[in-house]
Amino acid sequence: MWSAAVVGAILLAPAAFAAPQTLTTSQEYLDYSVLDTIPASSNVLQADVLASAAAINQQIYQSNNNPTQWRKCNRNNAVYRREWAAFSTSEKKDYIKAVQCMSKLAPKTPKEKCPGCQNRYDDFVATHINQTFFIHNTGNFLAWHRYFTWAYEQTLRKECGYKGYQPYYNWPRWANNPAASPALDGSATSMGGNGLGGDRCTNQTFYGIPTQAQPLIEIPHGAGGGCVNSGPFKDWKVNLGPVFTDVTCTPPNPETDFTNGLVGLGKNTRCLVRDISAWTSSQWTNDQQVTKLLKSKDIKTLWYDMQGGENPFTNNFMGVHTAGHFTIGGDPGSDFVSSPGDPWFFFHHGQIDRVWWTWQNLDPKKRVNAIYGTIFLADPTAANATLDDGMNLGYAYPGTITIRDAMSTLAGPFCYAYV
Ligand SMILES: *[C@@H]1O[C@H](CO)[C@@H](O)[C@H](O)[C@H]1NC(C)=O
Ligand SMILES: *[C@@H]1O[C@H](CO)[C@@H](O)[C@H](O)[C@H]1NC(C)=O
Ligand SMILES: *[C@@H]1O[C@H](CO)[C@@H](O)[C@H](O)[C@H]1NC(C)=O
Repeated sequence: MWSAAVVGAILLAPAAFAAPQTLTTSQEYLDYSVLDTIPASSNVLQADVLASAAAINQQIYQSNNNPTQWRKCNRNNAVYRREWAAFSTSEKKDYIKAVQCMSKLAPKTPKEKCPGCQNRYDDFVATHINQTFFIHNTGNFLAWHRYFTWAYEQTLRKECGYKGYQPYYNWPRWANNPAASPALDGSATSMGGNGLGGDRCTNQTFYGIPTQAQPLIEIPHGAGGGCVNSGPFKDWKVNLGPVFTDVTCTPPNPETDFTNGLVGLGKNTRCLVRDISAWTSSQWTNDQQVTKLLKSKDIKTLWYDMQGGENPFTNNFMGVHTAGHFTIGGDPGSDFVSSPGDPWFFFHHGQIDRVWWTWQNLDPKKRVNAIYGTIFLADPTAANATLDDGMNLGYAYPGTITIRDAMSTLAGPFCYAYV
């Protein structure tokens, strides 16, 4: 039985990673059902307890099943990605400075491929927009975004002198009041605050999920809706998109042709708009929802639960992925295609990756290579994605890896875990 104090200690201490390098048990992983006994009144999140169990399991699994790889990437040299709230003030400032640095470097994407790309940061947005119909499919969504987020982290380090690693935003910890979280509170060490109230699209009273015209869920406006006017990103420029925005007054992108590879990549420079929504986060990214997701019996269940159900958004269910986007809403946050234009995107996707990593490592033997889904967006009749399919990040990052390479965070090009 784990007492809340023990669990708390595990959560707080890097000692959670102090698993011995040589383990004798080969089949046994932690029985995480015991963690259900933690009293609901405890302020320890169940989802974090599962993540701690996953961290230990992953090491046991690697040391027993992949000893060669474990010699290369192990508890002594793996990187631990942390939540923003756990960063010190100077670590936060270093990260912010590096993101701003990327927005001042020249883009690598040729002008004719992306007329609107103004800087190095836009290369990442452009790749996401350009590969949407390839990436936002069931088969490689998780692996692709793991690679994308890691490549972004590497670029901050290699090209902007950042010494740390990508932070994540732990949804359930701030589900009741995201605007008060250190990532979104508008302070000098946040990723910017809410948008201004008052200058929103006056005729739009809600965001419709999945579409404004035929909403299954209607998200009411929060206190924002205008340009972000507090924190280090108040002068941030969004240059690309929109492609599928829910904000009806966002100016359209000059490139609208879906067949020439340029859709959304024309120059459309505008402010960063947010409308932080506790209404959304409190319902669909709370601890109970995330814990239920982490207990998904197979990858298909995890996938659909993450995305809003097998018949998405029916039964008033949004799923953590969509809810995470609409926790900030606005432009480009609410536009799945151009959403990386808001640097908060990588905090949300860091957490998406952490949730997948947790689920995988609660039962690594069965789950590390579990894959589900086809290669095209919303087309269940297309070919299934396979572990041998390649992924590239266009002009954002050099090279190609396979989905298989991205299945373990301690293998392929990666060597990181989460706390
Ligand atoms: C709001 O709606 C009114 C009446 O339908 C219309 O005349 C006006 O142009 C709309 N304003 C915006 C900003 O869409
Ligand atoms: C794709 O995988 C599913 C199981 O996830 C299977 O039922 C289906 O037959 C596969 N489709 C093809 C074309 O192989
Ligand atoms: C968009 O994708 C096409 C096809 O993969 C590729 O040829 C083109 O270079 C890409 N454009 C950008 C901006 O990445």
